[in-house]
Amino acid sequence: MNEQRVSEILTKYQADPGAVIAILQDIQEEFSYLPKNALMIVSRELDIPLSRVLSLATFYTAFSLKPKGKHPIHVCLGTACHVRGAQLVLEKFERELGIKTGETSPDMEYSLDAVRCVGCCGLAPVVMVGEDVHGKITQTKAAGLIKKYKK
Ligand code: FES
Repeated sequence: MNEQRVSEILTKYQADPGAVIAILQDIQEEFSYLPKNALMIVSRELDIPLSRVLSLATFYTAFSLKPKGKHPIHVCLGTACHVRGAQLVLEKFERELGIKTGETSPDMEYSLDAVRCVGCCGLAPVVMVGEDVHGKITQTKAAGLIKKYKK
């Protein structure tokens, strides 16, 4: 983890304790997760107890305390996707990747998470890989997506 980058983020917000959420968002964006060391620096510099920083980090689902894969996979389990078989798609990813939802593959290529409505219900079931939106995903297409991003 680049501590210099964490310091720059804190400087951007003038180490304002009121900006702790924005600071955590920037750190998450920078490292794709919230490294423990970064949270310790935030706690020290903002003079907020580490337990408080950790509880914020675990309260918001947008934050992750674990490193994510190079290709983060988000399977939408919102209502429209759910009724069109999103759960089966999620289970297919789990089997293909050999990991559970919320985990990252040992080679750090993929992480798998379930999310609520990503706003493209007309394309249900929807899967996001990084910033890419994939619609009308079947179990067969799910396997194909993994191969596609492996290249
Ligand atoms: S419910 Fe999946 S995109 Fe809306």
